[in-house]
Amino acid sequence: MTGEKIAAVTGATGFLGTHLCSRLLEEGWTVRGLSRAGSDRGDLETDLEWTVGDISDRQPIDSLVDGADVVFHLAGVGLWDAGPETVWDVNFEGTKTVVSACREADIGRLLFTSTSGTLRTPDEGGVATEADRAEPIGAYQASKAAAERVVDRYAEAGGDAVTVHPTSIFGPGDGAFSVQLVTMATDPKMVAHLPGGLSIVGVSDVVEGILAAAEDGTSGEHYILGGENLRYDDALRRIADSAGGTPARVRVPPIAIHAAGPVASVVSTLTGRRLFPFDSDMAQLATQKLFYSSEKAFAELGYTYEPLEAHVEETMAWFESTSVSASPR
Ligand SMILES: NC(=O)c1ccc[n+]([C@@H]2O[C@H](COP(=O)([O-])OP(=O)(O)OC[C@H]3O[C@@H](n4cnc5c(N)ncnc54)[C@H](OP(=O)(O)O)[C@@H]3O)[C@@H](O)[C@H]2O)c1
Repeated sequence: MTGEKIAAVTGATGFLGTHLCSRLLEEGWTVRGLSRAGSDRGDLETDLEWTVGDISDRQPIDSLVDGADVVFHLAGVGLWDAGPETVWDVNFEGTKTVVSACREADIGRLLFTSTSGTLRTPDEGGVATEADRAEPIGAYQASKAAAERVVDRYAEAGGDAVTVHPTSIFGPGDGAFSVQLVTMATDPKMVAHLPGGLSIVGVSDVVEGILAAAEDGTSGEHYILGGENLRYDDALRRIADSAGGTPARVRVPPIAIHAAGPVASVVSTLTGRRLFPFDSDMAQLATQKLFYSSEKAFAELGYTYEPLEAHVEETMAWFESTSVSASPR
């Protein structure tokens, strides 16, 4: 996709949005970004056409999306950053605002960024596909699952909309998950790691997957954008090998994770960093292996991902150049 195309991006000031906007600019798109009044626009300050507003404010969303070839709806908030009510308002009500603005405006495609968290196999240890819609655990998953239904209904009614489900995104600029992983892989004070497993995908791979979904995805369809399925200890060892650190040695037993409060506070005291934002629901998830298949995106979008090591150098360079600590951002 090149030329005079117009992208409208919510969440343009966030971790994924910043990478996506930079890539869109490289590809010659005109990029409009939504930012709140106090948002840090970073290096994109002068390169984007900014609309100031909250995701719940209809008027700025109307002017953001009208005339866009693709509306990339990335704005979202997790339980790292906000309480359940705000998570619901931003992720679900905000998506409703975006969809209703799209319905009444002249737009091409809506590309919605949900999460792999809304998908899970019935039996632990399986590899989930787009068909494995799961009962949501916690406000984040519930709000994203409900938002997906809003986007699906828009597509069913004749709108053009595609949903992507990134797994856990790793890369420079992420003060949450990526800092958590890098800290556990390299900080000698960091003794404990989680017992479960997850799919880790580099941010540049997710950006390419989003662009491919915007170009080649089928309206109404969902695509998992995942990476390697790894146990936590394997992921930490591989990051440590690449970065020259010492990975966390002790696997926290599931029973301790299920009593998550004490683990979180001990780890935070040891490192000065908030690493495990658990409530009891999230604690249950953290002990599981949450693995995902990206076969559908491979086949239909030409999606690919690189191994974890390909993303370590850039992420470490960013980590060492900032005084960032794991969320709150
Ligand atoms: N990171 C991951 O591992 C991951 C995995 C799967 C899915 N996702 C999804 O991908 C999307 C981007 O995630 P991310 O990691 O880039 O998150 P992020 O760094 O926290 O960025 C979130 C973005 O949403 C904006 N936002 C939050 N509340 C808003 C509001 N009330 N009105 C307008 N904008 C608001 C933020 O603006 P401010 O700059 O003003 O705060 C920011 O631009 C999210 O929808 C997330 O659920 C992320």
